[in-house]
Amino acid sequence: AAGDMGSPLKHFTNAKKKINVLFSDIQSYIEDFGEFIDDIGNSDENLILEEELEDDVRAALEKINGIKDMLCRNHMKVVFFGRTSNGKSSVINSMLWDRILPTGIGHTTNCFLSVAGCSDEAGSSSDSDGGAYLLCNGSEKRSIKSVTQLSHALSQESMSCDSLIQVFWPKSKCALLKDDVVLVDSPGIDVTLDLDRWIDNYCLDADVFILVANAESTLMQAEKKFFHRVNEKLSKPNIFILNNRWDASASEPELMEQVRQQHLERGISFLADELKVISKSQAKDRVFFVSAKETLQSRMHKTQGKPDAPLGMADGYQGRLIEFARFEREFEECISRSATRTKFEYHTQRASKIIDQLHVKAEWLFSKATDLMNECHDRRAFLLQRLEYIDNQMKIVTQRSRESILSLASEAERQVRLAMSDEIRRL
Ligand code: GTP
Ligand code: MG
Repeated sequence: AAGDMGSPLKHFTNAKKKINVLFSDIQSYIEDFGEFIDDIGNSDENLILEEELEDDVRAALEKINGIKDMLCRNHMKVVFFGRTSNGKSSVINSMLWDRILPTGIGHTTNCFLSVAGCSDEAGSSSDSDGGAYLLCNGSEKRSIKSVTQLSHALSQESMSCDSLIQVFWPKSKCALLKDDVVLVDSPGIDVTLDLDRWIDNYCLDADVFILVANAESTLMQAEKKFFHRVNEKLSKPNIFILNNRWDASASEPELMEQVRQQHLERGISFLADELKVISKSQAKDRVFFVSAKETLQSRMHKTQGKPDAPLGMADGYQGRLIEFARFEREFEECISRSATRTKFEYHTQRASKIIDQLHVKAEWLFSKATDLMNECHDRRAFLLQRLEYIDNQMKIVTQRSRESILSLASEAERQVRLAMSDEIRRL
């Protein structure tokens, strides 16, 4: 099942967890360093600190906190492109196992739509914070109670085609959202001439691009042109091609294999020869033949607890369901690998620079302290030496004075005796 423990998406979420722990450690080390400096500053030691040291440590801590926040918000981003009605929104719904985004014939999705995870109703009981909600161009938050309410709200929005509606959907409802994947739906590629703006606004931080093509026709110039532009702006973007509406092939079984081969070759050639984003052999695992409509029907059927297949599925639907799941597995591996490699690198580099700078400060402080200690050491040795000298001198003096006292005493005695013998003689 999607989202089980073995999901490749866990590489990313685990890496994110680990890096978060690492940043918490860094944070507490810097805090310790700050406290240490405070202590030195407060005690009247003769260690004189540079004025800026405290400010530097405080600034480093702020920067690390900022990076940590950004890392927490880090996610894996996949964007879907293709011509109107190829089934972009249907593919996203299939991946989310529910009819979250509006789909339909004609031009349905009229602006960019992102779907990201949010906490559950159960999670925050204090206010109406938990549960699904919408943000239009980052403005007011509108809570959504059901899928029907969501499609109603989305259909009422009239926004320009390059604006964004953000849908936040409870993580507990979709495995992909739980694992920090953000899915971005777009209007048909054929409705804009301003591809560059779309790319600049929505694609520069995308980890994976999915071209939803129509298996009933062939890759269109508009679609190819868009990906050429993407390829110019990003280095080796990860691109998947979904030949959607493959259920249509069931009505022409005699042509099916031939059409599949033709689409497969064209898809591989587009990725490997034209865009040169991947080798020919790898490109085989980037082109799939699916039916988003069938997949969604079957998945919704399953979540409603109905064991048998839904009615009215075209021949060979099981193969198409398997192919959709195979696509998801490849996609998960690709997005997780790519995001783990790119999303943390910049932040960790910045953090490592900050730590280096602090290290220099700590080393300065250490050498200062060592100097001071050595100074104390030298002074102590000098004093000891003097003490020893004084001690010796004292000994000498004592000795001498004892000697002199003795000699004085004996002299005195001699004098007394002399005096006494004189006296005796006189008598
Ligand atoms: P826009 O938002 O208008 O650009 O279109 P879209 O690419 O999002 O297409 P959407 O998912 O709205 O699908 C268009 C129509 O095609 C809907 O009526 C879908 O039910 C139908 N559709 C989508 N996928 C399939 C499929 O695999 N097979 C069939 N037969 N119909 C499909
Ligand atoms: Mg759509």
